[in-house]
Order: sequence, then C-alpha cells, then structure tokens
Amino acid sequence: MRSHYCGQLGEALIGQTVTLCGWADVARNLGGVCFIDLRDHEGIVQVVAEPDNAAYAMAAQVGYEDCLKVTGVVRARHSVNDKLKTGRIEVVAERIEILNKAETLPFYLHETPGEDVRLKYRYLDLRRPAMQRTMRTRVALVQALRRYLDAKGFQDIETPILTKATPEGARDYLVPSRVHPGEFFALPQSPQLFKQLLMMAGFDRYYQIARCFRDEDLRADRQPEFTQLDMEFAFITEADIQDFVEGMIRQVLKEVGDIELASPFPRMTYAEAMRLYGSDKPDLRISWEFSDIAELVKGCEFKVFTDWANHAEGRVVALRVPGGASLSRKQIDDYGVYCAKYGAKGLAWMKVEARSKGREGINSPIAKFLDDATLNAVLDAAQAVDGDLLFFGAGTYKTVCDFMGALRLKAAKDLGQVANVWAPLWVTDFPMFEWDDEAQRYVALHHPFTAPKIDDIADLAANARIAVSRGYDMVLNGNEIGGGSVRIHNSAMQAKVFELLGIGAEEAEAKFGFLLEALRYGAPPHGGIAFGIDRISALMAGSDSIRDVIAFPKTASAQCLLTNAPSPIDDKQLAELHVQVRPATPKA
Ligand code: AMO
Ligand code: AMP
Repeated sequence: MRSHYCGQLGEALIGQTVTLCGWADVARNLGGVCFIDLRDHEGIVQVVAEPDNAAYAMAAQVGYEDCLKVTGVVRARHSVNDKLKTGRIEVVAERIEILNKAETLPFYLHETPGEDVRLKYRYLDLRRPAMQRTMRTRVALVQALRRYLDAKGFQDIETPILTKATPEGARDYLVPSRVHPGEFFALPQSPQLFKQLLMMAGFDRYYQIARCFRDEDLRADRQPEFTQLDMEFAFITEADIQDFVEGMIRQVLKEVGDIELASPFPRMTYAEAMRLYGSDKPDLRISWEFSDIAELVKGCEFKVFTDWANHAEGRVVALRVPGGASLSRKQIDDYGVYCAKYGAKGLAWMKVEARSKGREGINSPIAKFLDDATLNAVLDAAQAVDGDLLFFGAGTYKTVCDFMGALRLKAAKDLGQVANVWAPLWVTDFPMFEWDDEAQRYVALHHPFTAPKIDDIADLAANARIAVSRGYDMVLNGNEIGGGSVRIHNSAMQAKVFELLGIGAEEAEAKFGFLLEALRYGAPPHGGIAFGIDRISALMAGSDSIRDVIAFPKTASAQCLLTNAPSPIDDKQLAELHVQVRPATPKA
C-alpha cells in the first residue's frame, strides 16, 4: 500500500515518487496552497498541494485526523523546519486518497486532556507521538531483556492463568468454574509456585514475561493487572542472583535508555534503610538522612519527645532540610498537614538562623523545652548549619518512618533537592514476618515461600519476631522495581513457616499440599526474583504513573473506561456458572 514511512523521508529521496499512509496531523489551506502534516508511527512529513496540482481538490477536503494515502514527489523545502526530522523536504502531492474520514475527535491530539478522556479514547491517546515513543521504549525493554536471557540459556516457559491462589499479600481475582459448581479458579498474583515447581522439574533457569493479577488498593505504581519479568534459578545463592540480575538491568537500561547505573549497586539492609530514610525503598537521589535523637531528648521537658523516647516501640528523629530555614510558616504548617495523612500527630520544627548566637539564633516553638546542652546535642546530631530547617518526628517506630519518610520525599522534591541521577540499590535482610495487629498473627513480609536466614526449624520458631529472610528488593530512584528471595526447599521448614503464619496443618495441606509434597522429592535449592516491567518502563519514560506505559490500563478504581469493564452479566450466564449475585451494598 505504501513505499515509505513518513518519518523516514529525507534529502536522499529528493526527486523520487513515494506513497505514504497516515493521518492528517494538521490540514490547512493557506492562500490557495494546501498543507497537510501527514503522520505515521515513524514521524511526520509535510505534504503540499498547489492549485495547479491534480490532488489539490482532494487536499482541500482533508480534515483533521482523516486517514490518508498520499502519492507524490519529494522535493527540497524552501523554509527548512529544524524541529522536524523530515523538515528539509516536503512531498508534492499527486494523488490523495481519503481512506477514512475522521469525525470531530473528542479531543485535540496536540493537547493532553484529563485522564478519564484519555482512557475512554485510549486508541486516540495512543496516536500521540509521546505515547507512541513511550510504548516503543517498553517494547524495546522487553525485547532486550528477552535477548539477554535467551542468550544465557534461560527457558521461557508459560505457567497457568487459571490456577489456584498464591498468596502475595493481595486479594485474588476469581473465575467461577462452570463444570465444578461452587468452585473457583484464581488468577495468579504471580507465577511464584509454578516457577518453583519448574526448578524441581529440573529446568535450572526460567524466565517469563508474566501477567499478574492482584486485587489491591491501586496507586500510581500499582495496577490490578501488571507485567513481571519473572525469573527463577536452581542451585543458587542470593549473591549469585543479585550479581546476575544487576548485570542484566545495567546492560539493558544502557542499551535501551542510555542509562548508566553504578557498578556494583549499593547494598543496604532493611534495618539501615528504615533507620536512615524511614523507607524500605529509599530514594538515594536525595541525600537527606534522619538522625535518631531519642537518647538525647529522653529527659527534656517536651512531653511528646520524652513520651516516645522512653517508649519501648518509640522513635524520635530529626530530619535536616538544608537551606530550609527560608520556608514560610504556612509552608511548614502545610507539611504538618501532609504528615498527618501518614499518621503524624504533629510536626515539630526548628529553624537554624545563626548557630553562633546560641539559643537566640534558633527559631522554634519547641526550643524552650530543651536546655542548652540538649539543644546543642540535637543540632550536632543533625549536623545542622545556618540556614537549615530541622523537622522532628516522634511516635511509634513505624509511624515515624511512615510520615518522616514521606516528608523527606515531598520536601526534597518541592525544594528541588532531588539530584538528576539514577540511583539504584539493593535492600536486603528483610524481616521474615510482620505482626498484623488486626489479624493478631504474623504475615509474611515477602511471601510465605521465602527462606529464613536461620536454617534450624526450632530456632526459627523461637525467634520468629526477629527472624530475617533471604529476600531482597532492587530499588531505583525510590521505586521498588524488583523483589525476590532464596526459597524454602525443605518441606518441614515450609510447613513450619505456614504454621508460624497461622496457616494450620489442614489448611496448609488443602492449599499447598502439592508444594509440600513436591518439596519432598529431592527439590534443589533455588531462588529468583521478579521485576515490574511497568515500573521500569515508567521510570525510563519519566512518567509518574505506570498507567502511561500500559496500552490499556485500568483506572484507580480498577475499571476499563474504554470497554466499560467490569460489567454485569446476564442471568443465563450466571446460572451456568452457578453464581448468585447478592445485592451490592451501596457505595460509601
Ligand atoms: P513482588 O510482589 O515483590 O514479588 O513483585 C515483584 C515486582 O512486581 C512489581 N509489582 C507491581 N507492578 C505494578 N502493579 C502492581 N500491583 C505490582 N505489584 C508488584 C514490582 C515488584 O517489585 N513472586 C514474587 C517474586 C519472587 O519472589 O521471585 C513477587 O511477585 O516492581
Ligand atoms: P503541642 O505541644 O501539641 O502544641 O506541639 C508542639 C509542637 O510539637 C507542634 O509543632 C506540633 O506539631 C509538634 N508535635 C506534636 N506531636 C508531635 C509528634 N508526634 N512528632 C513530632 N512533632 C510533634
């Protein structure tokens, strides 16, 4: 149908006849001459039709986003357009065919409308060159990952979509079975158990570009269905896995995005990350660190500090904001409001105007509660210098990490103190279990198949509260882009971990009997990791939301605005599936 792509044309083709297909990005009639900017996936080229030219009459009828086929001769352009790759030439139309007229579009593609409109008309949104570029980067990323892994002997093996629930911490999407009344498949939250079984089956190295489904609270970096690069290795240690995938990510991001990542990545334990940054995925583009000051303020007169400094689960930290003394009272108060969303009961602060003036040089509503020695010790601990602002957080360890960690990210962004670099790291030594107050039991911090560092089953049971796992996350610019672990390959240990998680023997047998049994037939030591393809793509595209790098994403309330899914189904289909729908409780 065509001889060239629009974006490919250049001076080398001057004098040649070409046939192009695409859309009228711009169509205008200027003083008798018609100009059409013809766009395809490769770019845009200017098409001209002059009145003495056979195609003129047709050109005059072309409207915005009409789908066209144009035949014409390439010629040098009088006024070169340096902004356009094809800006040195144009195509003099000889024949224009309108393949399909476009009605008035719901929005102008040169502008970015609200996201609801973009998602409803995603096929139009995707026509925009910026979206085309983003999606192509994602394609290139996946291609490069596949090439890398294929060359290293990994087996790309599919695992079931209709399966049994694997707990990854979210709710399952369920599919009713027609032939087994009252029974359900679950869509996989990840291929976790199947990839482990593939190692037990002797495949040694596996990968899959796998779709995962999780019914969880959605955010900018979470979709109900998303894509992982899922990997598993047999006969391996965590150090081997980390070295291998770090090399892969470094090479592929360089190849696809010209991104340079440090070698090796810094490594930090979970405890260290929480201590310094209040986050298990610290953004190391920001240099600000917490200083723990509980010991210093234990005996001061500020009750909020002393209460938490003397509390077994308490924490009191200072966060130094370099140059922050110039913030207004209103700005500081606004940060207090921001922190309240993360559980803060208040946000004390201190402006360091002139340390040489002692107490006089400090501007803070809480300075009066600290004697000179304490005040100085706090300032020293935070390494405060003139012009700084210190924020203080007091509360339970978890709450302080949550709100001070969020504050660190927000304030650094607001103040332009996020360095323009790529900051990867490994976070290791995660706790094995987390106590869930609501459920009154332990939950797995990673997933229940992650091996503990303690090998001894009795030791693990005795030390569950402080046990550390063989899990690790890869973090890039404050985003968790990958997570994995060495797995439990001993059936008795797996059974004990289920027990510690409050999964009774019967339930474990019903849900995971196949795994417990498989582990008894000579399962090899194994481990792996999964990367979030959407998150990596979004980082490469500079997008804040993974919705921008998914062709047809769901909204924050897990709907597809384009197809209107989910939607009711008719009674006949429900009956076939043996499903009865309860009237919905009205939405709050
Ligand atoms: P995990 O749950 O950490 O591990 O997931 C691995 C990576 O997948 C990405 N990710 C998501 N991306 C978009 N939307 C979501 N809702 C979402 N949830 C997770 C993240 C994350 O780092 N089976 C284990 C892996 C393993 O142990 O090998 C697992 O799924 O980038
Ligand atoms: P109050 O005595 O409650 O008026 O608080 C005095 C200052 O301490 C205010 O700036 C509060 O925002 C701050 N503050 C109160 N609770 C906390 C807390 N848990 N952590 C940090 N600052 C707090």
